[in-house]
This record gives sequence, structure tokens and C-alpha cells, in this order.
Amino acid sequence: MNEFDDLVVNPTGKKSLTELASPQRRNILISSAITALFSQNTLAATEKTHSKLFSFDSVSYSRANDDIQLPNGYQWSVVAAWGDSINGSTKSISPDVSDSAKDQENQFGMHHDGCTFFPIKVSGLDSVKGIWVTNHEYTDDGLLHSDGMATWTADKVRKSQAAHGVTVSVIEKSKSGEWRVVDDKRAKRITANTPCQISGPAAGSAYMKTAADPKGREVLGTLNNCANGATPWGTYLTCEENFNGYFVKTDKPNLAESRVGVNNKGFGYRWHEFDERFNLDKHPNEINRFGWVVEIDPNNPDAKPIKRTALGRFKHEGAMVTVAKNRKIVVYMGDDQKSEYVYKFVSKRTFNPATPKDNLNLLDEGTLFVARYDADGLGRWIALEHNRNGLTPANGFPDQAYIVINPRLAADFVGATPMDRPEWIAVHPQTKDVYVTLTNNTDRGTKVNLNAANPRVSNSMGHIVRWTEANGDSSGTVFKWEIYTLAGDANSNKPHLRGNVIGDTLGSPDGLWFDKRGILWTQTDISTSTLGKGDYAQIPNNAMYASDPSTKEFRRFLIGPKGCEITGVDMTPDLKTMFINIQHPGESPSERSDPKNPKAISSWPDKDQFTRPRSATIAIWRSDGKRVGE
Ligand code: FEO
Ligand code: CA
Ligand code: CA
Repeated sequence: MNEFDDLVVNPTGKKSLTELASPQRRNILISSAITALFSQNTLAATEKTHSKLFSFDSVSYSRANDDIQLPNGYQWSVVAAWGDSINGSTKSISPDVSDSAKDQENQFGMHHDGCTFFPIKVSGLDSVKGIWVTNHEYTDDGLLHSDGMATWTADKVRKSQAAHGVTVSVIEKSKSGEWRVVDDKRAKRITANTPCQISGPAAGSAYMKTAADPKGREVLGTLNNCANGATPWGTYLTCEENFNGYFVKTDKPNLAESRVGVNNKGFGYRWHEFDERFNLDKHPNEINRFGWVVEIDPNNPDAKPIKRTALGRFKHEGAMVTVAKNRKIVVYMGDDQKSEYVYKFVSKRTFNPATPKDNLNLLDEGTLFVARYDADGLGRWIALEHNRNGLTPANGFPDQAYIVINPRLAADFVGATPMDRPEWIAVHPQTKDVYVTLTNNTDRGTKVNLNAANPRVSNSMGHIVRWTEANGDSSGTVFKWEIYTLAGDANSNKPHLRGNVIGDTLGSPDGLWFDKRGILWTQTDISTSTLGKGDYAQIPNNAMYASDPSTKEFRRFLIGPKGCEITGVDMTPDLKTMFINIQHPGESPSERSDPKNPKAISSWPDKDQFTRPRSATIAIWRSDGKRVGE
């Protein structure tokens, strides 16, 4: 996340339930028929089992260490850091970071985030080589340029844009267990200037047309690429989060702009000073072309990324894809801002692995739903479809293009549940139960009302909610939910900070991912302005935990270096290598480093071998060659 986005822009959060103009709200009918849908309740069933999914020793509490801390018997190494060559042959970062924008276009970007390992078979083995795709969420321009932002030029804007986006590279395992980038024609960078196709209901609509793109079907670049997803047809989904921060508008923002937090400053990236399309006074529609889920084919170096507008435009965290029992594709998505919503997309057509070509555009047609978590423990998925649920022209929703561009407005109207910053979503590989991290919301109970799914005043620690879809049908519209864990410090003398964590303390859960054994890996993003202070005085650096859904235990697996966030995770199919991203080691509370003292907080990972801390992907494995976590 960015510190700059720590705001509530949802005006419905303070309204009482009866004020909300929602026909759905007036129709909360809890019938015995609905309760019967859950006769096969997996939540209750799994509670009784005490599985032994993991057996590593918890990593002890420590904040002083500026390194990766792992359980005994584990090793790690850097796979690729900011500025490394994407194929081993282009120029790598210079010690004075004087690299040009062109250089940066062939190097790993900054602030690694969501990521996926796509295996490449080598002599029948599927876990020794793969395509590594990783997001680069944002930039610290204090680190990116030799003199930081002291002078500001078109070249610096271009370099900042080149350090955003996605890297596709090919990585290979060595005999010692370390992984390295190798040369491959599939290696490429996608930046904030790479042409991307626009598809789905908003493509070609009046809201998407600009002077540079009068047809409204192609946009330059993707940005603020936060978490991710992967489809069963082998593509990667990168998710655009805090897109508003790149735009400025001096005139008063309109309704749609206010609802995503447009203002006259942005987050201080200063791109608009040399790239006019980020000035909304001049190019009002450019912002409508960001905030999407973007599909990338990692196997085809020539394929254009595609912005899939049917999945809605908001501050996307990730895009968790699952195949429903009826073979429809379901994508669960969080909108990461205080008091925003949880969404899912259900495809119109079904997935068929036997006809790969027919799967390519499954994400263009379907229904976007938003979640309502009711106080009785049941929930509803409400369709955000034109002329349904009151989303009519008379109520301010002229067409489906407007709804997918402004789903927050549509979700406000139908009475969705404002949540405590929905981050990653994970689906259990066997039960299909769904888990969402709600990282924190210190305005809960003051600027926004409490509700059953977000029950803590000034929720600085965050929580995890999980649910079971009725009849185990991921594409359905009714579910049963519960709070999985209220995060917090078990030793706090303030009850609302204490939580109910079983096992190791954690706070601000963010990254969330199930491996195929059903271990729930949870990563934290305590902001650098609160790390180690106040409510967080007794919580270590950002860390990663394994959790067992049957016992709800959390056990600390990894602690990161100073000032970092842990985000993004995948494993090789043999489960012997885990990959994670260490984002922004050494970040200062302002999120912009002092170029005169770039290692003030951290010098990870290069120590005295480089001039600045660098975000990086690391590989983790066991010295005895066994599977990670067991
Ligand atoms: Fe990019 Fe919500 O974290
Ligand atoms: Ca962060
Ligand atoms: Ca995140």
C-alpha cells in the first residue's frame, strides 16, 4: 500500500442501514431453505480435525536484525533485485544509479509485489526452471535517481514509469539450491508506457476515449501493480491498485473522481509535470483507463497485455481465480481502501481445458458481484449489472460501461458491506472456502460504522474473514461467513488490540495464499510509519506466517529486514522451493528515501556491496532437500 492513501472516500460508511437505498437490504430473508444450503458445512467439519500441516520451529521475535530470519534448517538467496538484468545479458544497475530510462526498461523494476512461477519442463522435471513473473508496485524516487527528486526532469519521469509494471523472466535452479535469471526470448518488461489492449464492456465506450486514443481501445501502460492472480489457461493477472495517486486535478473533482480519491496533488509522483496525460484538467478520461485487472501471456513475448474491464475498476489488490463446479471461472477481488468492498466476477461461459483457444477471452463476459456480509452470518453476492438491483439510468447508472468503470458507486447503491481494507483473497484448494485479509482500518467506529464483519473500533491490527459458498458452488450468490482470526498482540493491555490469534502474534495481514497442501501463508504489511511503535510496539518487522485452517494456528516462518513489507508468494510444484518478494527494505515513513543517506534504515540485501537497499525476489529451501513448511 501507499501511506498517501490512508483515507476514507466512501460516503456511505456513516449511513444507517435504513438510509441506504437498497432493495436488497429490505429483503433480508433468512429462510430455513437457505440454512439448508449449508448442510455440508465445511467450516464446522474442519474445526474438528487437528491436522499437522507444518512442523518447523517458529522464528523468534526480533526487530533489530536487518536480514531474512528463517527456521533452523532453511536457506535463502536473492533471485532478482531491482535493477538486475531481466535476461542476464542487458546492463545491470550501476552503483550510482545513473541508469537511464532505457536501461531500466531492461532491468527488474522497483517494489516487487505479487508474483507467479510458471513451470517449464526440463527432462521431465517441473521444478528446476520456470517463467518468473513479478509485479513492481510503485517507486521510491529518492532511491531511483542519483540525486533523488532534487531536480525533476522528463527523463526521471520516464525512468520512474519504466520501474513500474511487471517483469517476465526465466529462472533456473542450480545444484546448490539457489536460483538465477537465465537468457530466454520470453524475458520482457511491461511498464507504465507499454501499449495494452482494453477489452470487455468499457472498451470503446465514450468514457475511455482520449485525444491519443480516439477509439478508447488501447492505453499506454499499467501501474501500481499490487497483487496478482494466475488463470488455469496459463496467463498472469496483474492488478492495478492506487491508480489515483498518479493523477492531479486542480478543478473540483466530479463524483466519480471523488469516489476514487482524486485531488490536486496525487501521491507526489510528479509524472503530470512532463507527461500531460496524468493531468486530469487536460485529459479527463485518462484515469478511467487505470484501476483494472490486466491479463499477460508470459509464454508469448509479442502478446499485448489486456485490461479486462468486466472485472471492474477499483483499487485492486489481487485476483484469485478458481474454477467453479459448473466450470465457470470465478475471480475473487479485494478493493484496498478503508471501508471499501469485496467483489467477485463469474464468467458467462465455462472453462474447457480441451479447447484452449475458447478460454482466452473468458474474462470478457460475465457478472461482477459485490459482497454483503449480514449480521446473522450469511452473506449475499449482489450483481452489479445494468438495469438490475436499481442500477438504472434514472438512478445515475446509464450503462454497463459506467458501472464497471465506477463499481464503487454501484456497490454503494446496492448496499455492499464496507470492509476494513480488503487485501488478498485465497481459496482453499480442497474445501474451496474463501479467505480475505482485512489489513486494518483505524477509522472504524468513528468515521465509519461498525458492522458484524468489521467489529472492532479503531481496528489497527486487522483481521481475516472466511466463508463457504452455498452448496460449495463458487459461482453462487449466497454464502456463510465467520471471522477466522482477529489479529493483535496477545500481550496488549488494550482488549481491542489483543485479538484472538492462536499461536504467534501478527498485525496488518495482507498477502494471503494457499499452497496445494492447504497451508495458508499470511504476510504482513505494517506501514513504516507505525512499525515498532504505539499499537505495534510488541510486533516484529513485517513477517510471514503459516496457518492451519483446521486449528487456526499461526506460526512465524520468516521475519524480513528493516522497513520492508513481505508480499507475493509462490512455490515450485514439488514444494521444495518457495519464492517470496521483499518489498521496499529500508522504506522511511515518508516512502521517499534521502538520496544522500539511502541506507539510513536498511542495506538489505547487498550490505556493503551496493549503494542502496533493493526490493528483491528470494528463493527459500531446506538444506535437507525436503518440502518447505513440513
Ligand atoms: Fe498494494 Fe493493498 O497493497
Ligand atoms: Ca508497502
Ligand atoms: Ca498488499
